[in-house]
Amino acid sequence: MIYFDNAATSYPKSPAAVRAVAEAMRSCGNPGRGGHAPAMRAAKIMYECREKAARAFGTDPERVILAPSCTAALNMAVKGYINSGKVLLSNLEHNAACRPLYSMRGAGRIELVSFDALAKDAAEDFAGKVKGASAAVFTHGSNVCGKLLPLAALVKHAHENGALAVVDAAQTAGYREVSLERTGVDIVCCAGHKGLGGPMGTGLLLINRALDITPATILEGGTGVYSLDEDMPPFLPERLEAGTPAVALFAGLSAALDEFSLYSDFSAFDLLCDTLRDIKGVTVYCPDKGEERLPVLLFNIEGMDCEDVTERLARKGICVRGGFHCAPLAHRALGTLSGGVRVSLGKQNTAEEVKIFCREIAAMAKTRI
Ligand code: ALA
Repeated sequence: MIYFDNAATSYPKSPAAVRAVAEAMRSCGNPGRGGHAPAMRAAKIMYECREKAARAFGTDPERVILAPSCTAALNMAVKGYINSGKVLLSNLEHNAACRPLYSMRGAGRIELVSFDALAKDAAEDFAGKVKGASAAVFTHGSNVCGKLLPLAALVKHAHENGALAVVDAAQTAGYREVSLERTGVDIVCCAGHKGLGGPMGTGLLLINRALDITPATILEGGTGVYSLDEDMPPFLPERLEAGTPAVALFAGLSAALDEFSLYSDFSAFDLLCDTLRDIKGVTVYCPDKGEERLPVLLFNIEGMDCEDVTERLARKGICVRGGFHCAPLAHRALGTLSGGVRVSLGKQNTAEEVKIFCREIAAMAKTRI
């Protein structure tokens, strides 16, 4: 099998992460719900995971919310921290960012304005439009075409205009540095199971130390503390963590964070990009070599449906994702409204796999010419 669908989830997971999940299932009780040994073991696992994530992203452990997914984290960020007014979003956003915003617009709470992340100078377009906005919500890197946005510059423009900066780092966490400390970004949301290598069912909501807002809650329930109160506790992380957490999955994420290192060798991706671009009948959508990019690209073969290409590759044991990637805005911006085939590499992928893949694509394209 050749696995080129790392933007959906990384694969394979590290043996240490898999072992940690099984060990936690064998040994843990419910964290924060008792002082006995199994409950304490679980509480320690949760705290250690929080602490490692805080170190990796530059914030305090209590400002790390352990969420079930990046989608849940984005919902908490958008609905919890944004009240009203104009909100800026990019034209590459995933539905996980758009749909919570659309639901707030539908309720008449906010007005949405889009900026062009594919523009030659996206920061300039952003700077012109962020004036008067209460918040900006934008992806750090596109899940469709691998385009990276200039995080620090956008945050600076947002703050100069008094707007909150909420960033979707689903695709960049583990691939690029995402530092709340260094960029000043207010809120970062990411998955635990993509670049960070943890299990599916984990996500992180990371809040900047300097952000002094008590968020509205979107989920209420048991927290193990302040149980006599009608309201959720006013402090983090408990305010945003209701119910029994996925201890075993966070044990896996914690083990994966022990092996944390950023994606740095782009040689296989560069080869993929260059080779596909040379195949007649193939159109590739991704930033050029030398530009800031993730190892993610979209392509189409002239005259072939993207789902058909994906299906044929799957039959040969090659895993990619076709269609719209839950990001219709990005497909509109790229001009691929009939979809595309996405290839996304991880650290374990090799140049040899890329060569096999490109031979398959060349053979498919040849049959169409
Ligand atoms: N958002 C994930 C993807 O892009 C699932 O495939």
